[in-house]
Amino acid sequence: MKYPKEYLDEIKTRLKVSTVVSKFVTLKKRGKEYVGLSPFKNEKTPSFTVNDEKEFYHCFATSEHGNIFDFVMKTQNFKFGEAVKHLAQLAGMQPYLFSKQDEEREKKWKEYLSIYSQYVDFYHNNLLKNDNCSNARDYLKNRSVGKEEVKKFKIGYIEKKPNFFDKLKNQFSEQSLVESGLFYLDEKKKIYIERFRGRLIFPINNISGQPIALGGRIIEKLDYLPKYINSPETIFFKKGSNLYNLDLARKLSNRLDNIYLVEGYMDVVGLSKGGIENAVANLGTSLTDRQILILNQFFEDIIICFDGDESGYKAALRAAESSIKELKPKKQISFLFLPDKEDPDSYISKNGKNYFIDFTKQRKLPIHQFIFSHYKKQTENNPSSMAIFEKKLREIANTIKDDFIKKYVLEYFLANIAELTPHTTLNKRKFYVKKIKTLDATKKYFNETKSLTRVELKEFSLLYLVINNLSLLQSNIHLIENIKLFSEMNIQIMEMIIVKLKSGEKITIQDLNLDKQLIDTISKFAPIKHILKNKSNNEQEIIELLEDISRDLMNYDLEFRIQELESKFSKDLSEATFNELKELKKKQNIN
Ligand code: UTP
Ligand code: MN
Repeated sequence: MKYPKEYLDEIKTRLKVSTVVSKFVTLKKRGKEYVGLSPFKNEKTPSFTVNDEKEFYHCFATSEHGNIFDFVMKTQNFKFGEAVKHLAQLAGMQPYLFSKQDEEREKKWKEYLSIYSQYVDFYHNNLLKNDNCSNARDYLKNRSVGKEEVKKFKIGYIEKKPNFFDKLKNQFSEQSLVESGLFYLDEKKKIYIERFRGRLIFPINNISGQPIALGGRIIEKLDYLPKYINSPETIFFKKGSNLYNLDLARKLSNRLDNIYLVEGYMDVVGLSKGGIENAVANLGTSLTDRQILILNQFFEDIIICFDGDESGYKAALRAAESSIKELKPKKQISFLFLPDKEDPDSYISKNGKNYFIDFTKQRKLPIHQFIFSHYKKQTENNPSSMAIFEKKLREIANTIKDDFIKKYVLEYFLANIAELTPHTTLNKRKFYVKKIKTLDATKKYFNETKSLTRVELKEFSLLYLVINNLSLLQSNIHLIENIKLFSEMNIQIMEMIIVKLKSGEKITIQDLNLDKQLIDTISKFAPIKHILKNKSNNEQEIIELLEDISRDLMNYDLEFRIQELESKFSKDLSEATFNELKELKKKQNIN
């Protein structure tokens, strides 16, 4: 049974050749390509190349050549089906389940593609050559869209009374033609109407460059008709999963790290005319997470540049709040705001490419800064408004899937909120550990002694023991090396102390460079000092106390994980979660 082409294309979309190959071969970037030592031959100088743009690898030593499926089949000795399964998993996709409907679907896809290809070609040639399109050609000329752009984007024009339906109906069933979205039945007159009549059409292609939908712009000003319409969603066209011009723009990803994401077809065309070809548009709907993920497959830096009007700003904010979820290390999403009443098309045609690129460099705003500054603008300097502000930002940070990014975005938000309220944070600054950069979010920490949790108190006890027994611990570093701490500040202090202890030099409490107030705080609140006070402590006792604390902290960790799992279990009721939970509870009992 054949895998549907779409499924295979989806795998190819998600995985660059270099991504797959680099699991086996160390690759170095060289111009547009990557080079490495051939996996097909023992060699000392690299003769193996990978080209993401052309989607293949080539080995000059052995003439081996192919795409990601070939690569996995050859290097892993897989059959095609196994290679597909393996790569689908790597791409984070569900394994493909074949059914009777698949054959049907494959047939439908071929028809669909054939309908769209014929349609697009016909009306493109129509626009280029037919005399009855002179109004459309004049329109384009007025907007300074030249032949080059018309050809590059295969723009077409459909006259007001077209009759292409009749040409196609000999080849395809009426049902297939209607399902393409290009035609619909006028129930009263019982005739099929071409949805895009009287419009310029912009073909929307899938990732492999095949037309699967259209956008259409009216060329006469008629208030009762929408300026743009798009193909309806069909089995093969989902708006949120496609982007206009991605098929061409993605090929630039070897040369360029960034991609402009704009609102309109004409923005893409205008930017291209102005010399900026790395642009895609999101088809007149809200940006989806899926679109961000697709763009990130190819580009590290997504620059969202919507129209410089209120609706553009609102769309940008929506896009920011939804796409921040997908932010990953090494990937960036930023926003570029144009002056009022401008869109990328108008702005580049006025100012030219170089200005536009400089403008981008100077003005683009990283996603977290945009979100922060947006909500800051809405906030007044009073406790209630500040509280709402902080709460909102925390909520947004919490939607981020990647834990590292989540942590740093939250730190950024909180640190900047703290900057806004210097009077409440002034004193807390003193509690910083000198020389190590402490996370701003932990500022509040020491001051709020009342809210110290039992875990934090335990950690203070640990630190108290450590800083008062440095020489003992220097020779017994294993006692503290693997202790699980929870609060960011204490983790950092502990890490710093361990590094110093490991340096081998004899150290005293002064060498730790800790802030005096910090030491005072620890000494003041560490509950353990009450145990230690009246006894002259010997080393054995200290060791036992450390072991106790370490065990307690481990149990806290277990407790937290158990709590988490219990709430997960109450939602998913899965056996796996249950078993995990059982394991943890067993461990807890042993401890
Ligand atoms: P714009 O109105 O900003 O388009 O809509 P534009 O590119 O500046 O168009 P020109 O320059 O007037 O030709 C941006 C996008 O929003 C969607 C379309 O996808 C369009 O490209 N849109 C707009 C619609 O779907 N329907 C509309 O009526 C208008
Ligand atoms: Mn616009």
